[in-house]
Amino acid sequence: MNQDQLKQLVGQKAVEYIQDGMQVGLGTGSTVKFMVDALGERVKNEHLNIVGVSTSDRTAAQAKALGIPMKSVDEVDHLDLTIDGADEIADDFQGVKGGGAALLFEKIVAINSDKVMWIVDESKMVHQLGAFGLPVEVIPYGSQHVFEKMAARGYNPVFRKVNDELVRTDSNNIIIDLHIDPITDPHALAEDLIHMVGVVEHGLFLDMVNTVIVGHANGPEVIEA
Ligand code: A5P
Repeated sequence: MNQDQLKQLVGQKAVEYIQDGMQVGLGTGSTVKFMVDALGERVKNEHLNIVGVSTSDRTAAQAKALGIPMKSVDEVDHLDLTIDGADEIADDFQGVKGGGAALLFEKIVAINSDKVMWIVDESKMVHQLGAFGLPVEVIPYGSQHVFEKMAARGYNPVFRKVNDELVRTDSNNIIIDLHIDPITDPHALAEDLIHMVGVVEHGLFLDMVNTVIVGHANGPEVIEA
């Protein structure tokens, strides 16, 4: 099984947890794309009555095209379940997200959800966080100074660019990826980053996930965190 097939497997497994009447947070990324496809099938075939709340313009466009009823996060009183991907999940279920630059909306939706589920292929499961660059969303104004402060702390920052252009988030901010490997104390790092003026949010998702579905060649593994 290749990586895409593993992603599809966990995407299909995840939608089994969505029940009639739920308000569901829809994450962002290539794994979530398979999940949203599978959810679209359920809405069409079973007339499943749910409301989706998207974490990015990309996911919103896909969900709408599939006929999934959507609301904004501010239009719902709560979310029952959010299903999202992840870039790294450590042994203690702390995670790094934001590889797709959607970390801010993903975190807002996650913290307003009763339950959070991450769906990943097995390559995302690690002992300690850090091999994947840690995304940090930063306001453009003054970002060079934020960058320099991060460099002085030894965080090895890199402005995220595509074709030499700074990547912009859905909130028109930019991303600085930090290279700290291993991240030995994620809580201390999170605390430091969130207090840097100009930082909007970081990609450390700590003490947040309830269920992880991991794609293996022999089938999906459901882990209660
Ligand atoms: C988006 O910003 C990310 O947090 C994604 O959830 C994460 O990067 C996983 O994406 P893939 O499923 O594409 O690996």
